[in-house]
Amino acid sequence: MYVCLCHAVTDHDIRRAVVQGGARTMRDLRHQLGLCACCGRCGPEAREVLNRARATLKATPVHIELPPLADEAVARQSA
Ligand code: FES
Repeated sequence: MYVCLCHAVTDHDIRRAVVQGGARTMRDLRHQLGLCACCGRCGPEAREVLNRARATLKATPVHIELPPLADEAVARQSA
């Protein structure tokens, strides 16, 4: 769905800017996507999409694969 008609920015663009581009504020979105830089009518809807995307980001568990500790690596090599 288009959020900003002046700059053809969709809700998907906003979510991608949050997840992949690190956008956290309306200023970030304005800088990355250009929305709200013209008539400003997209501001309220953009802020809502931004807040939902940020909430989803916080709720999404992240799995990070860490390398083994040095002692574990030595023990595996000697086994
Ligand atoms: S609709 Fe976004 S600046 Fe006009």
